[in-house]
Amino acid sequence: MFTYDLGDGASLRILEMWHAPELLTFVQENRAYLGEWLGWANEMQTEGDAQHFIKRGITRFYEDGLPWVGIWLNDQMVGGVLFFPIDHHIRATEVGYWLGQQAAGRGLMTRSLRAMLRYPFDLFHLNRVGLQADVRNVRSHTVAERLGFTFEGIRRQVWEHNGQMVDMASYSLLADEWRAQAHS
Ligand SMILES: CC(C)(COP(=O)(O)OP(=O)(O)OC[C@H]1O[C@@H](n2cnc3c(N)ncnc32)[C@H](O)[C@@H]1OP(=O)(O)O)[C@@H](O)C(=O)NCCC(=O)NCCS
Repeated sequence: MFTYDLGDGASLRILEMWHAPELLTFVQENRAYLGEWLGWANEMQTEGDAQHFIKRGITRFYEDGLPWVGIWLNDQMVGGVLFFPIDHHIRATEVGYWLGQQAAGRGLMTRSLRAMLRYPFDLFHLNRVGLQADVRNVRSHTVAERLGFTFEGIRRQVWEHNGQMVDMASYSLLADEWRAQAHS
């Protein structure tokens, strides 16, 4: 089990196949909260679906080196962070993230992302991390802005969610900007 200690009882762990039952339970308990913004949370109905999700993360980790992690608080899974495939031509990736409702509002995602952004920037020397959030997902925008991401604009009807085309707010953080921030 690969664990990164965030302090205060919180940790990041690389998602492994044996986490599938816990991931499914977490999604079932938070489906309404997550599903408002994340299609995969609505689609994950069985342990096989959870295994499939984790397998995608393991495959990406194998191919790209950027891990998909779960966030645990007091030994309970409460969220996660994932990366999209690296575009090697422009040395860029995108990040995605989620928290259960009970774990929100305490800065856990901000701390998790600060730790996870070391992968693309410090270990893989990528130049850009992008982030896309539904224009209505204000909490997600706030996370991006708190981490120093720049709002780039709105991509109109670029995402299909729950049968509707939605506009996405586009954010990015560049390597120079990451380095200019103080990281303990
Ligand atoms: C997006 C999401 C992760 C944001 O969660 P969040 O709890 O607002 O984000 P954080 O964990 O960084 O916590 C920030 C909150 O904790 C508070 N906080 C407390 N201690 C803090 C600390 N040490 N550092 C930063 N914030 C702290 C902040 O004031 C803020 O609360 P506020 O918005 O009421 O002012 C969450 O809403 C979520 O997962 N939603 C469903 C899935 C989703 O939308 N995913 C993103 C798709 S793009």
